[in-house]
Amino acid sequence: MTELIVTEDKIIERVLAMELIRVTERAAVASAKLRGRGDEKAADQAAVDAMRRELNRLPIDGEVVIGEGERDEAPMLFIGEKLGTKKGPKVDIAVDPLEGTTLCAKDMPGSIAVMAMAQAGTLLYAPDVYMDKIAIGPGYSKGIIDLDATPEDNIMAIAKAKMVKPAEVTALVMDRPRHADLIAKLRKIGCSIRLITDGDVVGVIQCAEYHKTGVDIYLGIGGAPEGVLAAGALRCVGGQMQGRLILDTPEKVARAAKMGVKIPNKKYDLSELASGDTVVAATGVTDGALLQGVKFRGDIIETETIIYRSLTGTVRRIHGEHRELSKFHI
Ligand code: FBP
Repeated sequence: MTELIVTEDKIIERVLAMELIRVTERAAVASAKLRGRGDEKAADQAAVDAMRRELNRLPIDGEVVIGEGERDEAPMLFIGEKLGTKKGPKVDIAVDPLEGTTLCAKDMPGSIAVMAMAQAGTLLYAPDVYMDKIAIGPGYSKGIIDLDATPEDNIMAIAKAKMVKPAEVTALVMDRPRHADLIAKLRKIGCSIRLITDGDVVGVIQCAEYHKTGVDIYLGIGGAPEGVLAAGALRCVGGQMQGRLILDTPEKVARAAKMGVKIPNKKYDLSELASGDTVVAATGVTDGALLQGVKFRGDIIETETIIYRSLTGTVRRIHGEHRELSKFHI
């Protein structure tokens, strides 16, 4: 469960929290129609358009703090874009309308439509840079892993806590040349490595769902926006995570500073990545470890959505069957 005491002004209305399901469902369906077409841009654009349309229907005074584009504004859900009817609470919106664009374009497992909503000022405003991340699921004593410890020490700590050998620990890592050294170290200690080609929001969240995925720990470098989205979900179930922005050029440092990052090499804890009552919703686009993808069955469209609320620690899985499609613009 959440480790933070969240004050009244940082709480999302219960009803509003559930509204996110519709938003990610619509985005997932829109991009699923373009699964396997080899066109990342078109699939992403379809998800963006659907997500924007649905978000604009919500009774919120929302602002995108993590979005598709940082500087080039239209046509994406860009940082700073205002969303909602304005008749409602001020909220931070983090979106990744199609996470794993390549996975969707190639009809490979693991693409999702995902977003988070939190009271204004409570999400880390992460620029579109890389983030070094480490994450584990619930059930471990606090501080058992550390981004600055060696991969070997982190694996040993997990093995010790589980009272198993390192060979019985599964680490999830993105399959990238930048991780060659990390992977070599993990191989040496003998743990099992699950490599993913894309989609590290799901990668991190897989630790939260250990009972289903068997993933003990996420290690490595992925997108910073993806890190914030995953943090909201992980907080909900009492997982642990740390992240550090990779600001390796003066331009990136300046960009991050403009978004409020004062200490460039700061190690962020889970509660700093998402500090308020954070609601994260994700709908499967293609089938994956976390969610079933969209199914088109005659005039019925089926969706599977998972929604996390950090304040209460509630996780809901919603199976949707959608009819009268044109009427509802799905
Ligand atoms: P997109 O959905 O924008 O294509 O991102 C996919 C993704 O795999 C993310 O999940 C991950 O954080 C990031 O790309 C990693 O970046 P890179 O492909 O440059 O290693």
